Amino acid sequence: MELTNKKIGFAFTGSFCTYEVIFPVLSDICDMAEMVLPIMSFSSYNIDSRFGKAKEHIAKIEELTKSKIITTIEGAEPIGPKSLIDVLIIAPCTGNTIAKLANGITDTPVLMAAKGHLRNNKPVVIFLSSNDSLGNNLKNIGILLNSKNIFFVPFNQDNYVKKPNSMVSRPELIIPAAESALDNRQIQPIIV
Ligand SMILES: Cc1cc2nc3c(=O)[nH]c(=O)nc-3n(C[C@H](O)[C@H](O)[C@H](O)COP(=O)(O)O)c2cc1C
Repeated sequence: MELTNKKIGFAFTGSFCTYEVIFPVLSDICDMAEMVLPIMSFSSYNIDSRFGKAKEHIAKIEELTKSKIITTIEGAEPIGPKSLIDVLIIAPCTGNTIAKLANGITDTPVLMAAKGHLRNNKPVVIFLSSNDSLGNNLKNIGILLNSKNIFFVPFNQDNYVKKPNSMVSRPELIIPAAESALDNRQIQPIIV
């Protein structure tokens, strides 16, 4: 199902190195969707790093989506009861957020958005980006791979020499993965 005329939740978490490849995809999604609701985790909203200042990221997201970003748990809470979106894309999704999502923890705006949205039996799409994907977090990825209404953007090892446990999703597959998720299908192959 195409993203045209769909209401998309687009959530950022603290994998800052991926933002520069995520922003062009967010821009494409904003061009096609009926509405894009931006959400940021506390880390993504507050941390300045060598990958840019939080203020710059916030400005870019608000410029692209033309919407005010949801930055609090109470701000994200209505997503469930008011059924505000058709699909929630978490891109990038940190190992931290994956671990919490897999274990029922809801202590950031992004996790609140996911919890509320999942209760409506609607899809969540995860853009994995974690240095411990093949380490401590593999069990949590396994739980989510087996969870109803959770879909992954296909991923691979991004640097097996220097970071052998790292895996990152492919930005160019975010839109196809979200379109498949709206048809209740995991896009394949999932490891690319
Ligand atoms: C510069 C920088 C880069 C980071 N990159 C990643 C990353 O690529 N993947 C990841 O899982 N965590 C990364 N982290 C750690 C997360 O930001 C940290 O675990 C944070 O608590 C995540 O919170 P969130 O999942 O609520 O956004 C990075 C942290 C910093 C400061």
